[in-house]
Amino acid sequence: MTQWLKSNWRSKPRIQMPEYTDQAGLNAVEAQLAKYPPLVFAGEARKLKAALGAAGRGEAFLLQGGDCAESFDQFSADAIRDTFKVMLQMAMVLTYGAKVPVVKVGRMAGQFAKPRSAPTETVNGVELPSYRGDIINELAFTPEARIPDPKKMLQAYTQAAATLNLLRAFSTGGYADVHQVHRWTLGFTEADEAGKYRAMAERISDTLDFMSAAGVTGTQAHTLQSVDFYTSHESLLLEYEEALTREDSTSGDWLAGSGHMIWIGDRTRQPDGAHVEFASGVLNPVGLKCGPTTSAEDLKVLMEKLNPSNEEGKLTLIARFGAGNVADHLPRLITAVNEAGAKVTWVCDPMHGNTIKSASGFKTRPFGQVLSEVQEFFAVHNDHGTIPGGVHFEMTGLDVTECTGGAREVKDENLSDRYHTACDPRLNATQSLELAFLVAEELTKRRLNA
Ligand code: PEP
Ligand code: CO
Repeated sequence: MTQWLKSNWRSKPRIQMPEYTDQAGLNAVEAQLAKYPPLVFAGEARKLKAALGAAGRGEAFLLQGGDCAESFDQFSADAIRDTFKVMLQMAMVLTYGAKVPVVKVGRMAGQFAKPRSAPTETVNGVELPSYRGDIINELAFTPEARIPDPKKMLQAYTQAAATLNLLRAFSTGGYADVHQVHRWTLGFTEADEAGKYRAMAERISDTLDFMSAAGVTGTQAHTLQSVDFYTSHESLLLEYEEALTREDSTSGDWLAGSGHMIWIGDRTRQPDGAHVEFASGVLNPVGLKCGPTTSAEDLKVLMEKLNPSNEEGKLTLIARFGAGNVADHLPRLITAVNEAGAKVTWVCDPMHGNTIKSASGFKTRPFGQVLSEVQEFFAVHNDHGTIPGGVHFEMTGLDVTECTGGAREVKDENLSDRYHTACDPRLNATQSLELAFLVAEELTKRRLNA
């Protein structure tokens, strides 16, 4: 086998990546990034891998969520705090409701590059290159805005570093202390979910008071005061990924320093393509999106390439088939995994197979479809005796109106009220919490049937 090098992807076919015209500018940016510190460390990536391994065995559950695309314009401490806060609330619902430890991974601090369904976009007869995420070009519909600019990688790095810094502060600086469980309730949500959440928070508080009165102190109590929160993104812009890849001095292994976990998208998972080549050599846990066109044969080749030593927690398969389609596709992939004897962590992304255009013209996702896909995912795993290890959502802590439905219903005609996403529609805080309660129910059913 030839030795893996972080630049080997360059000799493979690449798709969904920009053609930079400013080659000198690109070289300069890559050289600059290569000198910057990595954003994450090898020990952290290994710890996440172990946690994902536990999720694969059914001893933990992955909650992965965040923006479809992080944006330079909408970057703010409040937005990061609110998404972090909803993820803590959801994790609490799952931990308390379903009695499983939750592995928390944000689609944050690096989720900037987007694959697109078409290379160009036409508006009123004018055709321009598609928007590919703030790390590449700009959303504005002008010829200049759509030119890929390598310098945007430096801004993405800076924003990712600042985001991660804030997430680290929130995770360990007291904000995520379980004793704050009441304070995470978001001010604006008055729906049923908020009421259910408050009631649960009440019971948790009582339990904590009891523990403290009973004298539970020291290291055990200390573990309740902080959380492990990890970052992840699609490893799409390989110039950025390569420039941040570093050799781990203790093991000689290679770390993608851009985030704790990286994943390969449904459009770029060709077994002989550039994206698989890059991901095959890093020590980080790797996600692989599996869609309706993923064949059992390809999956077997991909599992061999991405996890040759069959390490637990190394490979997460993120199923995204769309509501009504899970039973048509998931079984053949489960069979492929079983035949290969592969260790994987199965996760459900109920977002990307359920995107539609609403009557009002907005790209949306009906909440009911999202719920259904999650339920189908659990049902197929129950039938096969395999383990649903987690969920992957596009969501935000902001009170947006991007997905229709939910207990506090967003109607078609409400979509224009607060539609802020730069790419795909996200669940808002209330919808996210509602989904967490549903997932907790599914997990509880499994536990009781076990
Ligand atoms: C995404 O996760 O934003 C995405 C584009 O997903 P997929 O590759 O599954 O379509
Ligand atoms: Co998306």
